Amino acid sequence: MTKKFWQLTPAERQALLVDQGILSVDQAQFWSAQQPLPETVLTGLSENVIGQMSLPVGVVPGVVIAGTPRTIPLATEEPSVVAAINHGFKMLDQGRDLTIIANAHALTGQVALQNVSAYAAQELQANLSRLTAIGYAAHPTLKSHGGRIERITVAPGAVDDSLQLLVTVTPGEAMGANIMNDILEAVAPAAAEVTGGAVLFAVLTNDGRDSVTQVQAALPLANLQTPSHSGRTVGQRIAAIADWAQQDSRRAVTHNKGIMNGVAALALATGNDTRAVNAAAHAYAASSGTYRGLSIWRVQDDTLVGTITLPIPVGTVGGATKVLPSAQQALTLLGRPTVLQLQAIAASVGLAANLAALHALVTDGIQRGHMRLQYGSLAVRVGATAAEIAPLAAQLATVGRPSEALAQQLLAQLRAKEKDHGHRD
Ligand code: MEV
Repeated sequence: MTKKFWQLTPAERQALLVDQGILSVDQAQFWSAQQPLPETVLTGLSENVIGQMSLPVGVVPGVVIAGTPRTIPLATEEPSVVAAINHGFKMLDQGRDLTIIANAHALTGQVALQNVSAYAAQELQANLSRLTAIGYAAHPTLKSHGGRIERITVAPGAVDDSLQLLVTVTPGEAMGANIMNDILEAVAPAAAEVTGGAVLFAVLTNDGRDSVTQVQAALPLANLQTPSHSGRTVGQRIAAIADWAQQDSRRAVTHNKGIMNGVAALALATGNDTRAVNAAAHAYAASSGTYRGLSIWRVQDDTLVGTITLPIPVGTVGGATKVLPSAQQALTLLGRPTVLQLQAIAASVGLAANLAALHALVTDGIQRGHMRLQYGSLAVRVGATAAEIAPLAAQLATVGRPSEALAQQLLAQLRAKEKDHGHRD
């Protein structure tokens, strides 16, 4: 019997991806060699470096997003994440049940001015084209990289006698944080001069409302069926738990954490700023004044319809994306998406992770799926070899909640049995 993708060893998976033309031999070699980062990269990315840490990179193969086949790389330390997303995409016909509804890539920055004169707002309005020119001069290559300063607006400040300039930029393929901060720091002194005020701060906002992506899923209820639940019952229960996350922030934060399991793992694999991605998502979840789930699900006839809406502030060039060799390899594995495509993939991964989590919660509970993976890691902890992990994990699964001592005992029994077979063969 041919093995499933998840049953292969990492080397077998690499070989299969080479056979399928998804990885070149050199790329497979990169993933198997696990080269440590050179000192220049380490010291270029952080200060006071004493070492480095590694994380597993798993893939979800055979996904199709907006008609394009994708192999999705995910960097995570949480054992169930890749398996859950894989399951989510299975229920979504590998992504064919998804539609990209909206997709934007822009960001906004703030120049905050204090102690401004009574006429400051009018003075700023009168100088907007000069301030825009100063902004462009701070980043002469912005336009040639497909970016532009979309608008500069004057808005009230948050403290007495203050004002702010809101600068919105489309940063091309970059995430845009550096571009934005360069522009703001160039514009700020001129704005202070015009208003007679003082600059309090000039920095981007991680509020991501200008980078919102929306993806919709419509899947047959039959895809949700389990041995003990009909597809319709599961669909109705998924709609109910998602609705709960619209009403109750305790549940919403966990609902959204499950979504970010996927989004952040893709962001990390591609060298993006996971804190920016998380901050923007959670702020967006609270943008109505109440913290809510980032996705909603409802049953419509024989279909479960789900919609995820969230900002995904990522880039495909610049920063760690450029410097980290594994991030470059991850983008190559993904098929070199544009930034808008990367956002759409990330939102789709978030929705798949969410669907899998809600499906598990309203059917068997999440521990059953989690435990299967934990049996594997318990087997590794007690010293099982690669060949012993699967049979030992299968035995551990029959025990319920096995201790480390029991795992050791079962491993010893397994080895004795193997030896016995060896003698008889
Ligand atoms: C676990 O990492 C994520 C879940 O808790 C998400 C959820 O509850 O929706 C399973």
